[in-house]
Amino acid sequence: RVCLGAGLAAAATLVAPGVLSHPAPVLLRLSHVVAPDTPKGQMAQHFQALVHERASGRIRVSVYPDSSLWGDDDEMEALRLGAVEMLAPSLSKFGMAGVPEFEVFDLPYLFADLAQVRRVTQGAVGRELLQRLGRQQMLGLGYLDNGFKQMSAHRPLRQPSDLEGLRMRVQAPGVLEAQMRAWGAQPIVLPFAETQRALSSGLVDGTENPLSNFLTQGLATWQPHVSLTRHGYLGYAVVANPRFWNSVPRADRAVLTTALAEALAHGNRLSAELDRQALHQLRQTPGVQVHDLSDAERAALRQAAQPVHAGLRQRLGAGLVDAVHRALA
Ligand code: LMR
Repeated sequence: RVCLGAGLAAAATLVAPGVLSHPAPVLLRLSHVVAPDTPKGQMAQHFQALVHERASGRIRVSVYPDSSLWGDDDEMEALRLGAVEMLAPSLSKFGMAGVPEFEVFDLPYLFADLAQVRRVTQGAVGRELLQRLGRQQMLGLGYLDNGFKQMSAHRPLRQPSDLEGLRMRVQAPGVLEAQMRAWGAQPIVLPFAETQRALSSGLVDGTENPLSNFLTQGLATWQPHVSLTRHGYLGYAVVANPRFWNSVPRADRAVLTTALAEALAHGNRLSAELDRQALHQLRQTPGVQVHDLSDAERAALRQAAQPVHAGLRQRLGAGLVDAVHRALA
């Protein structure tokens, strides 16, 4: 014991002065599957900038866009294993991670506008859903909008019969599969990173996504018709590995919390503008026809998809779906 003590004392003198007062920085990897010039990409970059500005080198944030670190198939498991510290998956994907309640956000024509979405995400229902991520070893930290989904294919999609027999890529099973079947299409669940190849190879005939994703992935190359169905919402929940989050010193956890709140507000402010810019760019894209749908056409799509709502109520129980409708009332 005396020997060890003397050895440690000697070792301490060998360490350059001041090194012990500057422990190694906390490394925070934030991985996501979309391009930087999207609401999620901009939120992630803003979060990184704010943390680097405020944590005086104690925390180093690395952002990995476009599935460059983890993709749809492995990001949630990577988070659980501590191979990544933060993610911002689409709400649709939490169903595959054992929290099917999040599929409520996928219900076709559930939300009329982003204000209605915020009544859920910023209210008691949203808070409860974030809590439920805990049962899958994920810490739910907040919500981010992308926007409303449109559809693309080799032909205009104005009414349910236009989708008859089309193979349509969706991001997750469950409600999104039922939605496409309600319109007579065949849903194909694929990771986002495989969508381009699936379109170029003819594995799928069409897609659904907000326009910022459609544009930044260059999907217009294979999809000459974009139909403004505005049939569903796509948003995100930011999640962290709980062990990592609790290991960060309290003061620096507060820095992360406020930086994330500001970054989410920044991304939410941007989402509508990026959507407008994407629509404008697509209307200018040679070879792409953007089809505006009438209220009657959207009403027909909505009517045909009504059974999807009943199906989710049956699968999850009426409680959650009714709570969402009360929040929207
Ligand atoms: C998709 O898989 O189509 C989207 O969830 C991608 C994203 O994260 O916006």
